[in-house]
Amino acid sequence: MTKAARGSLLSIEHLQASEILALLKLTRRMNPLKPRPLLRGKRVVLLFYEPSTRTRTSFEIAAKSMGAITTLVQSSGSSIEKGESLLDTGYTLRAVGADAIVIRHPNAGAPHLMAAHLDVPVINAGDGMHEHPSQALLDAYTIQRHKKSFKGLQVAIVGDILHSRVARSAVHLLTKLGAKMILCGPPELLPEVAASLAPGVRLTRHLEDAVRGADVIMLLRVQRERLAGLKIKLQDYIDRYQMTATRLKLAKRDAIVMHPGPIIRGLELTGEIADSEQSKIVQEVSNGVPTRMAILARAVGKAGK
Ligand code: CP
Repeated sequence: MTKAARGSLLSIEHLQASEILALLKLTRRMNPLKPRPLLRGKRVVLLFYEPSTRTRTSFEIAAKSMGAITTLVQSSGSSIEKGESLLDTGYTLRAVGADAIVIRHPNAGAPHLMAAHLDVPVINAGDGMHEHPSQALLDAYTIQRHKKSFKGLQVAIVGDILHSRVARSAVHLLTKLGAKMILCGPPELLPEVAASLAPGVRLTRHLEDAVRGADVIMLLRVQRERLAGLKIKLQDYIDRYQMTATRLKLAKRDAIVMHPGPIIRGLELTGEIADSEQSKIVQEVSNGVPTRMAILARAVGKAGK
């Protein structure tokens, strides 16, 4: 595993359950409406090589609300366009005084590479098809607000699991905390090998099987461009895997529906489901702020010391 500066958050896979629970506890102590200046005088760089709305804005709001200065560096409009390498970009950001770097990158392992060479905490905001640890934490925090315990909780993840860093991090986190995971999708988007992601993970090709008796249903965005490459017909996907009111009735009465966003209404879910009482999609976005406050406080703030 990468040797990284204390406070880095590179993956969920390598965290202990106790570390996850500590981060969730810290998240509960964060109040975005009354933030404490835990990051006063710190400089947080948001280094985004890929588009983002939720992750970028919530990290920025989290950092600023705790008194940090933030700077956004995107591949477009920066010297990355001129060919500056990932590591040289990291050294440059360190040289201008970054105390922490939040990075999103299309390549799996990019945050780990940066963390191995820099003496500041690196936070993975999504790396390729690998992990999205802050999303998994905010999802766990959201689940905690609606369910008594993770132990024995039946969680279904539906959709493009093959390409999903969100699914990978969620499976690692929720199995570590004792949830029962069932993954659902067509073979092209859910290969058999996914069952070995974590102990006890079950696979199904049938949405009804995944949803029946579920406490939590996590839907994933359908990436049209990938479907075309895999020769899956969009209408077939909708017919077999779209979350509808009828299908949701198979879940527990108090089941919640989650989605990391962005959602595509009429594709992976109907608008009726997206706007329903059971949908916690907007709450997930809101919960991104205290979760990322906790991650940053652990990385560079007083809470991390
Ligand atoms: N869930 C998520 O990562 O969304 P963004 O791509 O908008 O950050």
